[in-house]
Amino acid sequence: MSVVVMSRVPAIAGLLFLFLYFTATPPSKTTYHSLFLSLSLSSNSSASAHLHSLTLRPHSSSTPADSIAADYVRSLLSSSSFRSHSLSYDVLLSLPVHRSLHLHLLDDHPFTLLQQTYPGDPYADVSPEALPTFHAYAASGSATGPAVYANYGRLDDFHKLLSMGIDLNGSVVVARYGQIYRGDIVRNAEDVGAAAVVVYSDPADSGGPATFPDGRAMPPTGVQVGSTYRGVGDPTTPGWPSSRPGGTCERLGLEEVRKGRDVPGIPSLPVSASDGEDILRSIGGQVADPEWQGGAGGLLYRVGPGPGVLNLTYAGNDTIATIQNVIAVMEGEEEPDRFVLLGNHRDAWTFGAVDPNSGTAALLELAERLGKLQKRGWRPRRTIILCNWDAEEYGLIGSTEWVEENREMLASRAIAYLNIDSAVSGPGFHVDATPQLDEVIKHAAKKVEDPDNSSQTLYDSWISSGSSPLIGRLGGGSTDFAAFVQHVGVPSVDMFFGGGYPVYHSLYDDFVWMQKFGDPMFHRHVAAASVWGLVALRLADEEFLPFDYLNYASELQLDGLKRECNELSLQKSTKSLEDDVLGMPVSFTPIYRSIKELKKAATKINNQRKSLEGIWSLMWRKDPLKVRELNDRLMMAERAFTDPDGLFRRSWYKHLIYGPSQHNDYGSKSFPGVDDAIQNAKSLNTSESWSFAQHEVFRAARAVTQASRVLSGELT
Ligand SMILES: *[C@@H]1O[C@H](CO)[C@@H](O)[C@H](O)[C@H]1NC(C)=O
Ligand SMILES: *[C@@H]1O[C@H](CO)[C@@H](O)[C@H](O)[C@H]1NC(C)=O
Ligand SMILES: *[C@@H]1O[C@H](CO)[C@@H](O)[C@H](O)[C@H]1NC(C)=O
Ligand SMILES: *[C@@H]1O[C@H](CO)[C@@H](O)[C@H](O)[C@H]1NC(C)=O
Ligand SMILES: *[C@@H]1O[C@H](CO)[C@@H](O)[C@H](O)[C@H]1NC(C)=O
Repeated sequence: MSVVVMSRVPAIAGLLFLFLYFTATPPSKTTYHSLFLSLSLSSNSSASAHLHSLTLRPHSSSTPADSIAADYVRSLLSSSSFRSHSLSYDVLLSLPVHRSLHLHLLDDHPFTLLQQTYPGDPYADVSPEALPTFHAYAASGSATGPAVYANYGRLDDFHKLLSMGIDLNGSVVVARYGQIYRGDIVRNAEDVGAAAVVVYSDPADSGGPATFPDGRAMPPTGVQVGSTYRGVGDPTTPGWPSSRPGGTCERLGLEEVRKGRDVPGIPSLPVSASDGEDILRSIGGQVADPEWQGGAGGLLYRVGPGPGVLNLTYAGNDTIATIQNVIAVMEGEEEPDRFVLLGNHRDAWTFGAVDPNSGTAALLELAERLGKLQKRGWRPRRTIILCNWDAEEYGLIGSTEWVEENREMLASRAIAYLNIDSAVSGPGFHVDATPQLDEVIKHAAKKVEDPDNSSQTLYDSWISSGSSPLIGRLGGGSTDFAAFVQHVGVPSVDMFFGGGYPVYHSLYDDFVWMQKFGDPMFHRHVAAASVWGLVALRLADEEFLPFDYLNYASELQLDGLKRECNELSLQKSTKSLEDDVLGMPVSFTPIYRSIKELKKAATKINNQRKSLEGIWSLMWRKDPLKVRELNDRLMMAERAFTDPDGLFRRSWYKHLIYGPSQHNDYGSKSFPGVDDAIQNAKSLNTSESWSFAQHEVFRAARAVTQASRVLSGELT
């Protein structure tokens, strides 16, 4: 049939044919996707009801309340047309057995270490079920020493103290939460000889004067609980699953775990703003720098040591406990062996209304909508898998064990992993992703209504927020995407509304806080479910995977390397980035070359896709094997960024572009191995350290080249 027709009769016949062709086919996938969005209109009450049910009791991992929550999730997913099952692992958790903290100055001041409920607190009767405030995996022991104030407990903060001549050996370090992972605070303190650590919430960082329940800020007695484990997954099964074929698996002994650097060697405790203030008042000595000053009422912060002496005792129970993931599957109709995975964790340090069950409520909401689509005749093209993880709070354990258990299946079949941890803590949309997913996420945000302003889309409010970059990357390891991206190389995204919030990991992260301050109408929960679900639907249903590797290539060009070059250039260079910066002992040329190849390969696969999608494909079915072959290249390209040897001395981290870099405490950069090697060479300045940095550059470049080869589908 020709489009250029002179006579009217064939033209009309042609139109008739098109009409019949389109009306005879069932509703398109896009129609179902619009239906998915329109189902959001009444769903704020269901999201709210789910959150309420999930947060009735504190439910840290492996407790009876966590198990009840797991049953709730599983039965809901089952009734939404998902084939669901619970999956157990025996893993090492850590529980507080005994805690005490005394301050000796003129007299002995014992701390109660209790978080208080308030008059009328609907959860007062179940609050005692929450674990006592503690640091999971802290070392057991007792230590007495002069208190030293160490600001945020960063490496630089300790260097500063040492440069001021402060003796840290045998001290009890007092640091405030807010800049780095608490496990790193304790590790840094241990490395400079501290005997114990107290980490407190400073009033300056607790969200303002109006404290919960009147305002959103942390009450003075609120304590941030959390893990101090610096590894990923069950500490006794590093790199392999804690599964139980025949009831047992290979496991490291406790002594071996305790010998490693991923668990602290000294005891520590978290305390409230009010206890922190009492301690700070006992610290004399030199006045701390202006940027070290916090918000404790009228107090001039000093660094010590002493005269206040702290006596901290902690006894923990390292214990093998059973945790439970819930996995729910909706099988794909045409490509059941291709997986689109959505995940969120369920375990919470306390009630978990923000962290993580706002995400669980959104997951259940999303599942119900997919169940409704299925009742109206929709089937996903590819398999959709919903995962509800356990023991994330202890160290991403549930997700990591599952990924390790299914590593090769995921490596050969996973299209993408879409994570939401704390879905909502306030207004403002945030996204971190691997770059080939940027476009599909933006597209979804353009279809979803802004939960805070119905006259614009989520995308409008997102871009007007001015967050730069709009989409962050997944180099950090703070939630369940870590095993998917950093261990296996599965394209991934992590999304949330809000971000930092003052009652984080405290007794006050409950339904009342959410209803009053986090999401009063539950519209943000609904928007989270909508954007999450729409990204999943497009990945599951579109004939061609909506992956954009051209964007990946340009992200690599910008991200990290420029900064690295700027930091390193001995004099300001006006040369283009492609030239090696003057005087630098490392050449980046291999990486720039490999990125150029990646661009070429990305352009090529985009063109191949366009030609397969040409006008004639509207009429005739495309060769399904050709479609599949092209999609496989798109799916596998991310895997090529991984290297079997992994990052230097951290071999679990296989991804050479996105992973935590050791020297980086400001979030996510790219090329962590290169970054670490360069930082190391800068401080050692030996020819070995510089040639090692060059080696890391070559290694990263080779990974990028492998990805280009996968994308272009050609052998050399
Ligand atoms: C720290 O103090 C202990 C005794 O209190 C001493 O044995 C040790 O040598 C000191 N360490 C350093 C690095 O000064
Ligand atoms: C520190 O506290 C523990 C537990 O309360 C106690 O057994 C120990 O004697 C105290 N040590 C010092 C030096 O006060
Ligand atoms: C440690 O935990 C296990 C399992 O919960 C329990 O059986 C055991 O009694 C606990 N030990 C101590 C010293 O609390
Ligand atoms: C809501 O969005 C519209 C359209 O973008 C904008 O003109 C208006 O100022 C917004 N309202 C608020 C309260 O932000
Ligand atoms: C759902 O949203 C409507 C307004 O769109 C609001 O009136 C209602 O209170 C919300 N429901 C819940 C449970 O917040």
